[in-house]
Amino acid sequence: MEPETEKAVECDVTDQKAVNGDVTDQKAVDGDVTAQKVVEGDVAGQQAVEFDAFERAGWRGRSEAYGRGVAQITGQIVGPLLDAAQVGAGIRVLDIGCGPGGVSAAALARGAVVTAADAEPEMVAATARRLPGIWVEHAILPVLPFEDGEFDTAVGNLVINHVGDPPAAVREIRRVVRTGGRVALSCWFYPAMRATVVFDEAVALVGLPRPADVPQTAPFQVYAQPEPFAELLASAGLTQVRVELLEWRHRVDPDAWWTAILTGTARTAAVIARQNPATIERVKEAYHEILIPYLTGDGHADLPAAALIASGTA
Ligand SMILES: C[S@@+](CC[C@H](N)C(=O)[O-])C[C@H]1O[C@@H](n2cnc3c(N)ncnc32)[C@H](O)[C@@H]1O
Repeated sequence: MEPETEKAVECDVTDQKAVNGDVTDQKAVDGDVTAQKVVEGDVAGQQAVEFDAFERAGWRGRSEAYGRGVAQITGQIVGPLLDAAQVGAGIRVLDIGCGPGGVSAAALARGAVVTAADAEPEMVAATARRLPGIWVEHAILPVLPFEDGEFDTAVGNLVINHVGDPPAAVREIRRVVRTGGRVALSCWFYPAMRATVVFDEAVALVGLPRPADVPQTAPFQVYAQPEPFAELLASAGLTQVRVELLEWRHRVDPDAWWTAILTGTARTAAVIARQNPATIERVKEAYHEILIPYLTGDGHADLPAAALIASGTA
């Protein structure tokens, strides 16, 4: 099923950056503000390190389950993402955060020359098995083991929302793309992304406390709206930045979707699946209750899904 709606919602942030030049100058001469920024920077740095550590542990052992379940919904973004990155025959593409290889497979089908990379060794192995003809690297953003300008384009489907330091990650992705090449990144768009929000609502309905080691939110969350997402790319030096909104319906068996999310994600799984069986059952009942308005009468649920694609020229 193709996404139903695709809209350009925001683009030119270059002027805004130029105007912001004065603000930057003011901060540079104000000692107190700078000192405060350093302290804030340490806190942000520490949060990034902790978030990355949580993500590494969270994705371990999930490649098969992810490929079976969650990849069905993330796959809806792949075509528009590759279009935004202008991927076609002969284009050298980097698929960063490749997971089990859905984006790489689609790029390969377009005749592109594909390199894939992921932070999770199991995902690297899964993509290498699925697509024996491509180069697959183990790489953890914000560091990529590639030369400056090595690719014509770089894509990351639902990866930037998993990194501890999104600005550093986008700068690094931009670095490995040649001048004039393309970068396209996607993220979920909340609260329209009902297909996963229903799990948070079920957790809230039961009053489940979040385990202490599970991050409250991703560092990317502050960029997960059209304008901030565009600004994130523009700040990394990308030009002609635009953000598209994709909306579609995720038609799924409720029990299969429950299993897919509890076995194939990092954060939601950590909040629910670690509880005792009775508590998990209460969350599942709450989930089924929340799904009632979306049931189609044939045992399936028809859940609204939404994502943003931000793209720009290097
Ligand atoms: C939601 S999955 C998306 C997978 C794939 N792009 C897709 O479309 O299905 C996120 C992927 O990003 C990878 N990832 C998370 N943090 C990363 C990082 N810092 N650097 C590289 N990959 C990362 C995870 O291992 C996982 O495979």
